[in-house]
Amino acid sequence: MTIAVLGGAGYIGSHTVAQLVKAGEDVVVLDNLITGHERAIDKKARFYQGDIRDYHFLSQVFSTEKIDAIIHFAAFSIVPESMQDPLKYFDNNTGGMITLLEAMKQFGIDKIVFSSTAATYGEPKQIPIKESDPQVPTNPYGESKLAMEKIIKWADVAYGIHFVALRYFNVAGAMPDGSIGEDHHPETHLIPIILQAAAGTRDNLQIFGDDYPTKDGTNVRDYVHVVDLADAHILALNYLRAGNASDAFNIGSATGFSNLEILNAARKVTGQAIPAKIGPRRPGDPSTLIAASDKARSVLGWKPQFDDVEKIIGDAWNWHENHPEGFGDRQ
Ligand code: UFG
Repeated sequence: MTIAVLGGAGYIGSHTVAQLVKAGEDVVVLDNLITGHERAIDKKARFYQGDIRDYHFLSQVFSTEKIDAIIHFAAFSIVPESMQDPLKYFDNNTGGMITLLEAMKQFGIDKIVFSSTAATYGEPKQIPIKESDPQVPTNPYGESKLAMEKIIKWADVAYGIHFVALRYFNVAGAMPDGSIGEDHHPETHLIPIILQAAAGTRDNLQIFGDDYPTKDGTNVRDYVHVVDLADAHILALNYLRAGNASDAFNIGSATGFSNLEILNAARKVTGQAIPAKIGPRRPGDPSTLIAASDKARSVLGWKPQFDDVEKIIGDAWNWHENHPEGFGDRQ
């Protein structure tokens, strides 16, 4: 039986494909390559290029391959872009999920692990955030993912499609052997942007806002290594294979770092001065996001191996230094 990884050419998807292959799974990747990179896909996985909103494409792949379960990453995930263009997010993320569930129902595929996000919680009332806390997104990205969680819950009730929603906190790092890493165009995430500034390929690094109610006034985020996150998907897959009930889990480190702390950690790891300015707040940013991740640890048996922000930044830096143009497939 085969695992279909939707969005398997993207940043988190490609790391998960590599970990699945290492675990001995048979893997197919479906990706439209809008943000993904064909070069990021492990050579042992079979690749089909197409869009999850295209029912015909999904049905062709699902008739060719014998799919046991889906791992679904194929979504847009940039908070500021979603503020500018919310319909893009509802179309691809929420709409794509509806088409996918239709195809799963049609082909009798009854297990899916998918990417949800800390952004579904919005501005939390308490820290650390528990899975049972209210979900009130402050941006369309979070709203599009919350809608996915709600839709799938009813698809489970009606059609018996079992799911695990993994609510990611802030993901960074790269494969420790340097084979794959993060390559977004344009890049909007804090750690890769700081590393571009460290490498001298970006000269306008700004920290967005220093007047939040946090330890140093800058936003606080909870960072998880991309390989630990990838491994959480394999545990979630095995959880569903063992016949367990659908559920949602936070995936984070339970530790918060402010944007200035991340900048200082990157200065230490890279040995570069990394000049930065304080800029205005970025619309849609909650001030603090830190996960309670006890549920993933106790129920899924998730145990992060790289639970250290300097290791996370170090692996990202190793990738960046050796691949300043990323996968080298974009203009
Ligand atoms: N930031 C800067 N300067 C930059 C870029 C980012 O100060 O040039 C700040 C942001 O304002 C924010 C922090 O760095 O305070 C982290 O921003 P990112 O864009 O790296 O990440 P987000 O927290 O906005 O979002 C990420 C993922 C989402 C996910 C969320 C959950 O992109 O998909 O984490 O915590 F939902």
